[in-house]
Amino acid sequence: MSAALLVVLPVGGEAAGLAEYDKAASEVATTLIRQFGEAMRREMAKGGPAEAVKVCADLAPELAGRLSRERGWRVTRVGTRVRNPLLGMPDVWEQVVATFAERAAKGEDLMGMTYSEIVTEPNGRYYRFMKPIVVQPHCLLCHGPAEHFPEEVKAVLKGKYPFDQATGYQAGDLRGAVSIKRPVGADW
Ligand code: HEC
Repeated sequence: MSAALLVVLPVGGEAAGLAEYDKAASEVATTLIRQFGEAMRREMAKGGPAEAVKVCADLAPELAGRLSRERGWRVTRVGTRVRNPLLGMPDVWEQVVATFAERAAKGEDLMGMTYSEIVTEPNGRYYRFMKPIVVQPHCLLCHGPAEHFPEEVKAVLKGKYPFDQATGYQAGDLRGAVSIKRPVGADW
């Protein structure tokens, strides 16, 4: 084996590892977005927006929690502007979510975008990944211009979310991201 190859291998190994992590994380993020979208459409058809609130408020964190436990990773969602600061606020690294909007402004398709990185924190190294959540037309009932919200939605939001900033979006906008954090071995 040549010396040059020995130098190249570790770098190639890490890149290949990253591609594998990206593939696995993309699958989980896509699953979460799909399950969430299906549940939203189902509940909206069944019980209208007042029932569908539960999908965003309870089911989305539950689905993310289930995927987290299945994989042993942390799977969450964050917003560009948040309704619930307790759950939806991006941490320092997750503020990279804003760059998705910049990339979209330059012509890249939000649906296909991802961002990932290996980060070093005081207690270890982690793989971190984000995939955009895009506003669909039916999201607007609760995330569009507040003056157009149905009365029952206004009532729920006013009572439960005094710090709500997750309004004023349009279909196709960046709403936030699925965020995944996964421990990585010391060899990375
Ligand atoms: C019927 C009302 C309703 C609809 C429709 C709705 N949401 Fe929400 N959404 C909420 C509520 C309520 C919260 C706050 C959840 C919580 O308590 O954590 C929320 C929170 C979120 C968050 C987490 C960040 C934050 O703001 O706290 C994201 C991301 C999100 N919604 C995306 C969407 C997307 C994408 C759609 C359409 C596919 C959608 N929502 C449709 C009511 C709704």
